[in-house]
Amino acid sequence: MSTLSVLAVASEAYPLVKTGGLGDVVGALPAALAHEGIRTTTMLPGYAAVLDALRDATIVHSYDYLQGAPAHVLAGRAGGLDVLVLDAPHLYARSGNPYVAADGTDWPDNAQRFAALGAAAADVARGVAAGCTPDIVHAHDWQAAMAIALLHYGEGRRPGTVMTVHNLAFQGKFAPSLLAELGLPARAFAADGVEYYGDIGYLKAGLALADRITTVSPTYAAEIRAVEHGMGLDGLLRHRRGIVSGILNGIDTAIWNPTRDPHLAATYDNRRLARRPANRVALQHRMKLHADADALLIGVVSRLTWQKGMDLLVESLPALLAHGAQLALLGSGEFGIEEALTAAAQEHPGRVAVEIGYDEPLAHQVQGGVDVLMVPSRFEPCGLTQLCALRYGAVPLVARVGGLADTIVDANEMALASGAGTGLVCEAGSAGALQAAVERAVALRRDATAWRQVQLRGMKTDVTWARPARHYAALFRTLAAERAG
Ligand code: ADP
Ligand code: GLC
Repeated sequence: MSTLSVLAVASEAYPLVKTGGLGDVVGALPAALAHEGIRTTTMLPGYAAVLDALRDATIVHSYDYLQGAPAHVLAGRAGGLDVLVLDAPHLYARSGNPYVAADGTDWPDNAQRFAALGAAAADVARGVAAGCTPDIVHAHDWQAAMAIALLHYGEGRRPGTVMTVHNLAFQGKFAPSLLAELGLPARAFAADGVEYYGDIGYLKAGLALADRITTVSPTYAAEIRAVEHGMGLDGLLRHRRGIVSGILNGIDTAIWNPTRDPHLAATYDNRRLARRPANRVALQHRMKLHADADALLIGVVSRLTWQKGMDLLVESLPALLAHGAQLALLGSGEFGIEEALTAAAQEHPGRVAVEIGYDEPLAHQVQGGVDVLMVPSRFEPCGLTQLCALRYGAVPLVARVGGLADTIVDANEMALASGAGTGLVCEAGSAGALQAAVERAVALRRDATAWRQVQLRGMKTDVTWARPARHYAALFRTLAAERAG
């Protein structure tokens, strides 16, 4: 098996910078691909957190002028990854989130910030950085997509290009006047190029011009070809359906490992499941929930947005409480949803606990302590928290959509009779269906043996990156062979 070299381009990578699952995926995939004989170099913006972590840095390319000022491409190691870092302080050296300012609004120069990332990635792909001549450029989400457009319209070396969509809701749509600044020819502003409803669409450009498109689950790959989930790009995705595929995410089972999780009150595994309830007690204590061993303890670890169906959860709270359930929720997001949840916690002390914020240790404690991990998304490209839940023996209760539908097997009566079922699956977008699923969970948990079997099947489910990495490797190798061809 010959070694293949991939340049991954992304705006976040765990543990350096993460706002969601994208960071987890970009951080974990390289190690899994290494087992498949694929060497990944990950190109990231030079945020302070990335530059601080960078070791053995050398300058491999310099710009006198890149979107407003000089910039350098640095090669080195950071966060366990081989990285190329675009050091451009005028674009990335600022406190706060990679995408938004402290007040929650998009950075006004996001078009330039991620055009620069794409341009530097395209230059590296063409071979400007000694020691890096990738066979494949793997662009993650709109922030990286311009690399594909620039390679398409530019001259010189042209590796295979793969556009991975983690979430079609975020598209990077900017004014058409930007075209020249992007270094694209006038002909690029066309329906089969970067033009998108009169604007420039970064993700659209990547989708139109990549050699392959992947999304993070087979069901989402199908869903986005229809108007309901296509977010305006369904026509293009239908047109390109022959090169679109879905590859499920995995999780990093070194980080998500209940056998050795430093954040848990008690570690456990499938042979020592009796140790798990100590985590429930600790979680209830920490989140000031009543120390009730019988209540169905429901956990949520999520961005608090419409996508995640968090408004449906708010609407369903009275019904959940009527079933005797408790809620332990960790998340942050839209102000209105945060406010409604905080109000519910005040109204139902000891039964509804809400922690607004981002807290990795608490995310682990929720997974290790709750009975049910709820993911009631309206759409979900893949979802990672339900995979963590499987591993931690928290029974996932999820909406039948996207990657949730592909990863959780509903424990209905016939499934149970045939020794199958890893969670509870309900119709997406319906508060009534969510409530009915909670009722099913309450009933199922009364049968301690059946419940334990569901937990154990979940814990034995392969949620590692091994299988997905094989799919990516096969895709990369096919594409590289085609280009060599
Ligand atoms: P998305 O990327 O759409 O937000 P995913 O389920 O793919 O959803 O990934 C979310 C990731 O972020 C998971 O690793 C999850 O544990 C983590 N996460 C989400 N919210 C929080 C939070 N408030 N605190 C800690 N981790 C969080
Ligand atoms: C996005 C999606 C989520 C997916 C993650 C990683 O943020 O919302 O479903 O798991 O990307 O691919």
